[in-house]
Parts: sequence; structure tokens; C-alpha cells
Amino acid sequence: MRKRDLTSIFDVTKTEIGDLLQEAVRLKQEKTPSFPLRGKTLAMIFEKSSTRTRVSFEVGMYQLGGMALFLNSRDIQLSRGETIQDTARTISRYVNGIMLRTFAHQNVAELAQAATVPVINGLSDLSHPCQILSDLLTVYEKKGDYRNLTYAYIGDGNNVLNSWIEAAGVLGISLNIATPPSHRPAHSILNRAQEMSPRAIRVFDRPEDAVRDADIVYTDVWVSMGQEDLRSQKLRDFTGFQINESLLGHAHRDAIVMHCLPAHRGEEITSGVLDGGQSVVFDQAENRLHMQKAILTFLMK
Ligand code: CP
Ligand code: NVA
Repeated sequence: MRKRDLTSIFDVTKTEIGDLLQEAVRLKQEKTPSFPLRGKTLAMIFEKSSTRTRVSFEVGMYQLGGMALFLNSRDIQLSRGETIQDTARTISRYVNGIMLRTFAHQNVAELAQAATVPVINGLSDLSHPCQILSDLLTVYEKKGDYRNLTYAYIGDGNNVLNSWIEAAGVLGISLNIATPPSHRPAHSILNRAQEMSPRAIRVFDRPEDAVRDADIVYTDVWVSMGQEDLRSQKLRDFTGFQINESLLGHAHRDAIVMHCLPAHRGEEITSGVLDGGQSVVFDQAENRLHMQKAILTFLMK
């Protein structure tokens, strides 16, 4: 059987997402662990910083009976010109899965192509699939459902939004988007998702219009990793796109507020909202662990 990868949400079906959510719920409640990945190893290559992704994958592998190796890309021969293909072919001889956090998404695609073991995208400039899968778990826990709800994403058209758009395409969930015109999400992803689910995604100019009727109000940083040079320009471009008490007033009264973290308090979200009664961000962060375990089991068992 050909190995499976998780390079984007487009790699999984609606049914598989449902199965992953069920398995994550089961693993979260499990009292006696069964160690389905006993003796298995995950290599984790990081070109960018990480708190949640690194810790949740590492702890997740341990809790499943396996182990994870943290490889800073600066410390391996990749940084000295060894190709991604040769790295993939070599590491595949030692481990049972590879997770990569990188800049260019092409690196994920090339790694997946050359590796003979499953490859997981732990964030690229283009997408962040593991984040959105675990966010669906949080929505399911908080709302009792993840399908018949309205999601509003306000902010940058970045990797996190691209993965939400992929999820909307695959699942047909209703996703309202408001980004500044100069920071729209990836066209190719939007087009593909709209072909899959023609009425799922609506793009708004004004954040107020996007959050109206929203059950989930979501944002992410305005300056992603690797964009530090664009910081002052981006801060200007995003004026009016902050999730604050006034904007939240336009959403459903029981809307939950989500953020993948790390947050830049006072930029894309106020501390009042991030720490407020509607925010679920730390439950959301916790669920990274439970969903990583479901993903790892799905790909590596
Ligand atoms: N949300 C997320 O991926 O966090 P880290 O960058 O800390 O891994
Ligand atoms: N968009 C952010 C997500 C961090 C988890 C970034 O790429 O830095």
C-alpha cells in the first residue's frame, strides 16, 4: 500500500477528517494507553521556531509508545547543501515518519515525494494543516458539532487561513473571510476549495460583515515567521482588522474566539478578548496534542 502524507488538508477526505476527530476524542479520554506506535520513530525537522507543534508532536509520540527526534535544520547537512531528496531518502531508512516545519511549501512537496515514509507538514509558508484539524476538534468540543456552523476568519491571508479554506472545500463548512485587499489568501487554494464546495466560502471587505452570524471568530498574527521585514507595512495594512470587544459585538453572543497562537497581544487581538470569557485559545492549544496523536496513528500505525 502506498504511504500517506499530510501536506495539506486536501490530502484527506471528509470521512477521514471525521475519523481523525473521533480518534482524537478517544485518545483524549483514554485511561489506559495502548501504545499503538511502540518502537516507532518520528523525525521532526524545524527550519522555524515552534512551541506548540514541537512539544505536542514530541509528547504525542512518547505517549503513543514511540519517540521523536528534534532536528534543527541548521544542525543537519540540509543547511550545508545536502538536497531535500537525499535527506528524505536517508532519513526514511531510520525512521517511520518525518515532520517538517519550513518556509517554502515546495520543500514539503519534495520531501513527501522523495521520502518512503509518511511526511507531515508542521507548517509551511503556504499551509498549516495539523493546526486546523486540531481546531476542528476544539470547535466540536465547544459546540457539539463542527459542520453546521459559521466560521469567520479576520486578518492575514496566510498559511492558517489557507488551511481553513482547504477545510471549507473538503468539508463544505461555511467560512467568512475578511482580509485587507493586499493580503488575500492563495488564489489557487481558494479556487480549488470553491470548486469542491461552491457556496462554502464568502470573502468580505469589512470584518464587521464577516463576523455577523459567526459561531467562531478566528484570527492569527499579522506578521508570520519570515515576514519580519514587512512588519511596519503590515501593521499599517491591518488597521481595522483587530479582534477587539467592539468587533466581537457583531458576532453571535455565544461565539467562541480562537487563535492558533502565538498571539501578538494588542495587534491582531486585544488582551481583553484573548483572556476573555469567549476565548478558548488554551483549550485549543491543548488539543494540538490530542489531534497530533490521531494524525500520527492514522499515518504511521
Ligand atoms: N500554533 C502553532 O503552530 O504554534 P507553534 O508555532 O508554537 O508551533
Ligand atoms: N501564521 C503564523 C502561524 C504560526 C503558528 C506563522 O506562520 O508564523
